[in-house]
Amino acid sequence: VSFLQKNDDLKKYSIIDTRQFKDPEVLDKVLNLASEMEELSDLSDNWIRNNELHDSEKDRLVELREKLYLSDYPRKPIMVSLFVQPSTRTSFSFTSAMKRIGGDVFGSENAKDFSSFAKGESIEDAAEVIGGYGDVIVMRHPGDENHPGNKVAVNFANSCPIPVINAGAGTDQHPTQSLLDVYTIRKEKSRLNDLNVAFIGDLKNGRTVRSLIYLLAQHSNNKIDLVSTDDYTLKLDMKEWLREKSPKTGIKFYEYDIDNVVDVLRNADVVYMTRLQKEYETGRTDAANNSAYILTPKHVSEMNKDSIIMHPLPRVDEIDPAVDDDPRSKYFEQAKNGLYTRMALLNMVLTEKHGITDWEYDSEKAANSYK
Ligand code: CP
Repeated sequence: VSFLQKNDDLKKYSIIDTRQFKDPEVLDKVLNLASEMEELSDLSDNWIRNNELHDSEKDRLVELREKLYLSDYPRKPIMVSLFVQPSTRTSFSFTSAMKRIGGDVFGSENAKDFSSFAKGESIEDAAEVIGGYGDVIVMRHPGDENHPGNKVAVNFANSCPIPVINAGAGTDQHPTQSLLDVYTIRKEKSRLNDLNVAFIGDLKNGRTVRSLIYLLAQHSNNKIDLVSTDDYTLKLDMKEWLREKSPKTGIKFYEYDIDNVVDVLRNADVVYMTRLQKEYETGRTDAANNSAYILTPKHVSEMNKDSIIMHPLPRVDEIDPAVDDDPRSKYFEQAKNGLYTRMALLNMVLTEKHGITDWEYDSEKAANSYK
């Protein structure tokens, strides 16, 4: 195992934008490793909690641990966790993932107030400095009026001497969420093509929606149904990108008003619910919008038996908790899958044996084109 020692330019291992995973073979490699990380987690949890593994399972555990950075380096690899926006799933699953693969973690869950961002330190200076303290940085930032989320993520990664993983960038991108989303879809539906995926809710501000659409569009013959009220439709740039992409992969999208949600649900293989992102809508008080998005058992009764319901979470009120017990509800499994996906990604960033250059982050291209 080589622990990022051969490379002068560690930036290229950064994960900033899902478009880095446009090659289905590269994506497959990530998802296959995530699947092995799930197996590793299950076996080690079982060992720790029940101490009951068969010999063949112990052998498999040893085999899987060979895939990790765990060997005799002078110290553990260190993940710096820098969150300028609140998080439960991303922050905690990254921390758990790093510890499960044998690494160490430190950082700030409230970097807005408890780092020198509060004193006005620039993104670029912070990246340069923090990059001297760890081996990989996981960073979430809301962006601001002058610097959209992805611009902040790109500036941070391009100023940082070590790899940066974008853990959510304003309303732009959340690449590790969409990787865990496709992991979930592949696990539940056994494919990433020929899918009918319905996105429902706040499609204007939802970074998980954007990131996932980028990945779905790279696979053949997917159809995307976009259901929202008029003031929360998918942004224009994304629709233009989809139209350009359509002749290449067959991706198609259709927009529906919330009144037509039942027709959409009847045809969906995957229903991807989202919450209203009120944090980006300061000044709006029209809470009535919320009720438009509630998925109830009555809605779910219209869905196909083998369809699935996803949600990046947190949920507010857009899925009635009565839906949770329906076997098609996969959002809590989806959140758990974040652990395995992030174990795989950290492994790939921190070691060279998994072919990480396959998704190479191009800092120059990013500065010019990842909007
Ligand atoms: N899905 C997601 O990003 O959740 P958190 O904001 O809790 O990390």
